[in-house]
Amino acid sequence: MASNSNMANVNGRENGEPIVKRPRDNVSPDSPLRSSKEPANKVTVVLGAQWGDEGKGKVVDLLAMDADIVCRCQGGNNAGHTVVVDSVEYDFHLLPSGVLNKKAISFIGNGVVIHLPGLFTEAQSNLKKGKGLQGWEERLKISDRAHIVFNFHQAVDGIQEMQRQQQEGKNLGTTKKGIGPAYSSKAARNGLRVCDLVSDFNVFQEKFRILAEHFQTMYPNLNVDIDGELKQLKEYAEQLRPLVTDGVYFMHKALTGPSKKILVEGANAALLDIDFGTYPFVTSSNCTVGGVCTGLGVPPSHVGRVYGVVKAYTTRVGVGAFPTEQDNETGALLQSRGREVGVTTGRKRRCGWLDLILVRYAHMVNGFSAIALTKLDILDTLPEIKVGVAYEVDGEPLPSFPANMDVLTRVTVEYKTFPGWCCSTEAARSFTELPSQAQNYIRFIEDFLQVPVKWVGVGKSRESMIKLY
Ligand code: GDP
Ligand code: IMO
Ligand code: MG
Repeated sequence: MASNSNMANVNGRENGEPIVKRPRDNVSPDSPLRSSKEPANKVTVVLGAQWGDEGKGKVVDLLAMDADIVCRCQGGNNAGHTVVVDSVEYDFHLLPSGVLNKKAISFIGNGVVIHLPGLFTEAQSNLKKGKGLQGWEERLKISDRAHIVFNFHQAVDGIQEMQRQQQEGKNLGTTKKGIGPAYSSKAARNGLRVCDLVSDFNVFQEKFRILAEHFQTMYPNLNVDIDGELKQLKEYAEQLRPLVTDGVYFMHKALTGPSKKILVEGANAALLDIDFGTYPFVTSSNCTVGGVCTGLGVPPSHVGRVYGVVKAYTTRVGVGAFPTEQDNETGALLQSRGREVGVTTGRKRRCGWLDLILVRYAHMVNGFSAIALTKLDILDTLPEIKVGVAYEVDGEPLPSFPANMDVLTRVTVEYKTFPGWCCSTEAARSFTELPSQAQNYIRFIEDFLQVPVKWVGVGKSRESMIKLY
């Protein structure tokens, strides 16, 4: 019987309430349910630690060689991941880079937003490049809970960018792949998912019309070919159906069944994260570690190693504050030596020095187990190299990375300067083969972040990666 005080005691019972045996109390002492064993399989996660394009594709390809499952958990085809194998340059936007491993299953989770024409075009164009993609359909699974990006989402992305330019004098510099509008539909709860498309098409097309008309009402200039897109979607539904799976059950089986190596390929990056990034100049998903759990249905206890991919300098595509940007000869050199051109949009990437305040912030959110430091070779010709180590605003030091973009725009950066090594690192295959100045640069990064560097990239190809331990 409940007391009048309505106070629960430490046992979760109202005062005076009798002890009720819950079903779990009946579990026998030797039942596996009582086991304190660690969960069987853990996922290894690869995440971007800056503003994207750090070389995640290459790191994933390396780890995917002995993976059983390689997953994408968030983002869409705004991502552009490059993998170079036998001199063939593959580019992946929606397909996990692990699709090149013919023994692994690739999985696109519920947190991803999928533009179907984009997915199939990407597969076809990579098929023409080399043998890597052969048989891709047999090894791809797609979550039935993933949301769909429609052509009108992409058109709306373009219109919103134009409106921002007209009304505020600047846009976000999105990839115009419909990412923001598709995640808006998801959050507004009128989006459509893969399970809708592969079920009753009559029901799907009704919902599709309502959604398209909703956007047409909001954007009178929006031109939607409703019947044309529906016809195309009906064809895609047939191609898609054999790939669709109950994503939660799929992951659960993978995590709790016989030992499996599961890899998660983060897209975009920490500073583009909708919560932790340089808002509003961000993408519309969680590109930090939480996105792994929500975008795949992976319980946090199954998250194992989290690797942060850090470029040896910094780049950014699109608009937004960039404290260590070098809008000068150094920036131009990094841009041309690093071939810093967007894989998705073909835009030149802005370039600057490595910003360790920013990477430390990414580490605070993600808890990196280790770092993959990429593109060290791009620094080979520089006589001196700088690293951002502290921010100051109005003469006051900032303890961490600021939320407010007006503050970030005004920071002055304190740099530590290192002597360059002025020789090629491309042939190095061990830490000791690197020039001492490069070794010092790497050791400083580890000391500053208090995270070990596990790999160092010295070239584009699979082989151009030094493993430190
Ligand atoms: P992602 O989006 O993080 O997968 O990175 P991108 O593929 O967009 O951009 C990284 C670029 O750098 C690609 O062209 C890669 O082939 C290239 N790359 C990756 N690691 C290295 C490296 O260590 N050295 C050099 N020179 N290029 C690299
Ligand atoms: P990968 O996975 C670099 C940037 C865009 C833009 C902002 C919002 O290759 O590292 P969106 O189209 O997502 O609404 O654009 O985010 N952006 C990326 N920049 N690499 C990416 O992915 C990016 N994904 C989004 O340039 O500034
Ligand atoms: Mg990229």
